[in-house]
Amino acid sequence: MTKIPFFDLHRQFQPLRAEILEDLAQVCESQAFILGPKVAEFEERIAAFSGAKFGIGTSSGTDAQLLILMALGIGLGDAVITTPFTFFSTASTVVRAGAKPLFIDIDPATLNVSVPKLEEFLKTECVAGESGLRTRDGLKVRALIPVHLFGLCSDLAGLRRLCDQWKLTLIEDAAQALGASFPDGDRQLKAGSVGVAGFFSFYPTKNLGAFGDAGLVVTSDPDLAKKLQIVRNHGMDPKYYHEVVGGNFRMDALQAAVLLRKFGHLESWSKRRWSIAQRYQSGLKGLGIGLPVEPYHEACGWRGHIYHQFVVRTPRRDQLRTALNEQGVGTEIYYPLPLHEQRCFQNLGYRTGDFPVAEQTAKECLALPIFPELTDDEQALVVLKIREFFAR
Ligand SMILES: Cc1ncc(COP(=O)(O)O)c(C=O)c1O
Repeated sequence: MTKIPFFDLHRQFQPLRAEILEDLAQVCESQAFILGPKVAEFEERIAAFSGAKFGIGTSSGTDAQLLILMALGIGLGDAVITTPFTFFSTASTVVRAGAKPLFIDIDPATLNVSVPKLEEFLKTECVAGESGLRTRDGLKVRALIPVHLFGLCSDLAGLRRLCDQWKLTLIEDAAQALGASFPDGDRQLKAGSVGVAGFFSFYPTKNLGAFGDAGLVVTSDPDLAKKLQIVRNHGMDPKYYHEVVGGNFRMDALQAAVLLRKFGHLESWSKRRWSIAQRYQSGLKGLGIGLPVEPYHEACGWRGHIYHQFVVRTPRRDQLRTALNEQGVGTEIYYPLPLHEQRCFQNLGYRTGDFPVAEQTAKECLALPIFPELTDDEQALVVLKIREFFAR
């Protein structure tokens, strides 16, 4: 039986093997492992690529988010609005900072936070006063963290408008969306560059993946950039003098070396993902399953969706997954349980039924194999197996 993996990092590594090992050897020769010139070069490259002025390399995407919240002084007594349909860390980091996550249901087409639902929430559930926006129980609503899920930007125009109107700080969780674009008049904006700050993850399976954990914050605010650099390194400035309590959120040079080498391929890899997505779009048409939407394609071309994942939706998800698995096709479920239903968040006071779109999507979503090295023949087989399943 032909096995089609959900993801295969070996295929990406093999052609780059010699160059990457050489880059790693250089770092080993330098014996300079934390921050340093490689990290600085990578920060500059990613900031420029994302249309932001500053990049601050971190130990992971999760740490990048915690770093932003700490640098902005978001913590006890504060609330942060986000989506319940995302990876755990988007909300857990808010809790770790001492604040409370407030969830808003998602848009059924884009799976990103719904702008009309957010607007309704702000109008009906929050109270605007002299000290800013507050929840009914008195928490200060400080920020909005939309997630650009699966490589598609949230509706940043609508969200920015609401953030301006209600004086909320916009922080972009662009962990899955490095290089994704969003139309702004006749310009294209890159994920991460629209908010006060944005962050990326370089978890190995991301479009740009490290050899371990790594992340990065982008911002165009020089004061915030300086603060982020200090908080990333124990709040230390100068050495062994601590203005604020920070953390160890530093990126290491070995990761920066790998990422710099791979970065040269990112655009072609994301473009290839988009081509694979187009073949899924046409091959899976007419089966009655939900397919990803590309609302920014006309303005941004393939950069309008960088397809970190290709996620379909069907009420027969579990049967489809089992059938594909039996035939050697790997799939994954992102995400099986929305965050408001997670046991560790029960104290937040939400109940099943609060976010019906997120809950339904969690029952129906299935991610198909999509990575640049997936061959056309392999993909054709995935499409065939899915069509066979629905023909039964
Ligand atoms: C949407 C989202 N946010 C945040 C993160 C956290 O990134 P990391 O795994 O690098 O800590 C991830 C990563 O998996 C993610 O997918």
